[in-house]
Amino acid sequence: MNEKTTNPTVLFQPTVRIRADDMEIPSDDCGIPKRSEPCAIVIAGATGDLTARKLMPALFNLYQNDGLPETFAIVGCGRTELSHQRFRKKMEAAVVGKTKDRSDWKDFAKAVYYVPLEYDDSGSYQQLAELLQDLDNRHHTDGNRMFYLALPPSLYKTVAEMLGRAGLGQEFSEGNGWARLVVEKPFGHDLDSAIELDRGIQRHFKEHQVFRIDHYLAKETVQNVLMFRFANTIFEPVWNRRYIKSIEVTATETLGVEHRAGYYEQSGVLRDMFQNHMMQLLALTAMEPPSRFEADRVRDERVKLFRSLRPFSVQDLRELLVLGQYDQGTVDKTPVPGYREEPGVDPASLTPTYARMKVFVDNWRWQGVPFILTSGKRLAEKLTRIAIQFREVPHSMFRQVLGQTINPNRLTLGIYPEERISLTFQTKTPGPRVCLRNVTMDFFYHQKETGPMFDAYEKVLLDCMSGDQMLFWHQNAVEQCWSFLTPILSECEACNDRTQMLHTYPAGSQGPAAAWNLV
Ligand code: BG6
Repeated sequence: MNEKTTNPTVLFQPTVRIRADDMEIPSDDCGIPKRSEPCAIVIAGATGDLTARKLMPALFNLYQNDGLPETFAIVGCGRTELSHQRFRKKMEAAVVGKTKDRSDWKDFAKAVYYVPLEYDDSGSYQQLAELLQDLDNRHHTDGNRMFYLALPPSLYKTVAEMLGRAGLGQEFSEGNGWARLVVEKPFGHDLDSAIELDRGIQRHFKEHQVFRIDHYLAKETVQNVLMFRFANTIFEPVWNRRYIKSIEVTATETLGVEHRAGYYEQSGVLRDMFQNHMMQLLALTAMEPPSRFEADRVRDERVKLFRSLRPFSVQDLRELLVLGQYDQGTVDKTPVPGYREEPGVDPASLTPTYARMKVFVDNWRWQGVPFILTSGKRLAEKLTRIAIQFREVPHSMFRQVLGQTINPNRLTLGIYPEERISLTFQTKTPGPRVCLRNVTMDFFYHQKETGPMFDAYEKVLLDCMSGDQMLFWHQNAVEQCWSFLTPILSECEACNDRTQMLHTYPAGSQGPAAAWNLV
């Protein structure tokens, strides 16, 4: 393969910045809409990492900002035997350092409980059901229950089925309120396993009860993509193949596999980042406008977009996809090991930690426009953004005077580290000679914002309590994305040249040089 050494992500160097500081952000009406109905929040896997790192701090922060219902109960469940008191202590330790003000903890903790749960033992679920009934009386939770599966994916189906058999999936009968099941990613390992998992869940929970999380969708600036596109008139007319040359979606990380080798070895970057987050970023950027901002309509448009993805043919695979794996290197001036030296990783592992993929959307709007999706671990920087590269002007009347090409416009929707929108365009350089320069106009998303900020998990919990499915995956979309990716995964994992397909890159670099040709 012909290896160029220029990295397309650093080609564009704007020269001047203008801050758009004339935005007025309305100070009220943008907070929590209204308190949701009373409910019990049951966390299966409550002694695990996700509960301590994300869920409990999120619930406590919501409590402090009036984001939880007036009356609620939180029930942790796990295999470990713990008393309510010990669990509360553990959770208190988990929120230390994640919150400035712990003065409300004692009050909050009065609604926190624990019950041991053997995941495949029906007796345990009976005990859980009894506790929940008792809490309905004690905390007036009205039979409304949310079951959050903070568990290894291999347990999703068992736990959903056992909850169902214990009658905990029933809604509005025999004094029950609503029942919602929150499932973390990955939802299946490929198309067949995703269908199989869904079948197990749907035996006891209907589609409207299932909340499949993608924490990217709950990021403020990701949600803002729809507002930006559809609450303005000036962008939509140029949001198509006539004006846009290419779109890049990038989500790079400096972190390595950390302590998650068991999971990551089985998934790799395509299942970990592409099947979910990257696909959702692509969908929000490319989908058609829904007729209303309602969960079903927005989710339908996302599914339609996934249906329009051009399938990769096996012959084109090597032209359209570059895979990589990090080797040892330096990140933030600290030497770090290669992927194969990480604890729990097979020393001969062929799991990709980097992918750059060129995707096409076969519809009128996007025919011929490449979407370049890039994600990887242990790269030079943590960066998440969507960059829209516009076409060059069709005819340059300045060519004879300037003798230079005119840089086309570029719009960047920054998601991390800077949550901002930047538009680059051409202006005249002040002075007697006719010269052009690139200028960039920036809008910083949090500019002038003073209200309470909710992170992605807080938003997910809020929406689930209020029953809003906008930011969650519908099963149709899960299956569409797996239909697109499963043949790619099968080819990558079964081909004879698997080793050659995997390019190594030093940790802390821009990724494999082979990927830079894919533009
Ligand atoms: C998770 C992946 O879904 O997203 C991780 O499993 C990845 O591997 C993480 O590190 C990235 O999320 P964020 O919000 O830090 O970009």
